[in-house]
Amino acid sequence: MILPIVAYGNAVLRKRGQNVDKDYPKLQEFIDNMFETMYNASGVGLAAPQVNQSIRVFIVDARGFVDDEDEDEEGLKDFVQVFINPEIIEEDGEEWDFNEGCLSIPDVREDVSRKERVRIKFYDRDFKEHEEVYTGLKARVVQHEYDHIEGKLFTDYLTPFRKRILKGKLANISKGKISVGYRMKFVK
Ligand code: NI
Repeated sequence: MILPIVAYGNAVLRKRGQNVDKDYPKLQEFIDNMFETMYNASGVGLAAPQVNQSIRVFIVDARGFVDDEDEDEEGLKDFVQVFINPEIIEEDGEEWDFNEGCLSIPDVREDVSRKERVRIKFYDRDFKEHEEVYTGLKARVVQHEYDHIEGKLFTDYLTPFRKRILKGKLANISKGKISVGYRMKFVK
């Protein structure tokens, strides 16, 4: 089932998500719905707060970054993962800029600077524990989605000048004054 994606301005995007356990009601079905919702919106990642659930779950499918399989040097085609109760252990390496977007903030793309490497502990959908180090675009999408379950958005990193430029556009998004090709939930 495709779920409506919560738009910028909704308080759920600003809450830190709660951890879940195996017995969390309908968790597997919820994860399936998250994938369906993300694919329908052509996203490369989606976090539970973006579909109005304040829990520490996000999903990634980095195939959306790759046009040509022959040029998939980073192995993005294989990066499909469910992250449950993740904890970032450390981030290091040089900061680099990448033009980020977000399904909750349609038609806004801005350069965001983040560290190049992230070490993260998490459970997969079978509640098997993992600890992984990601770099480059894999790290980038993990850092962006992890921020969502911490109540952060990529626009938080912008300079006061860029925030001022975007103010009107963000206000319009929160009011639903935007045309978007997937189901969204706006603040009334
Ligand atoms: Ni996002």
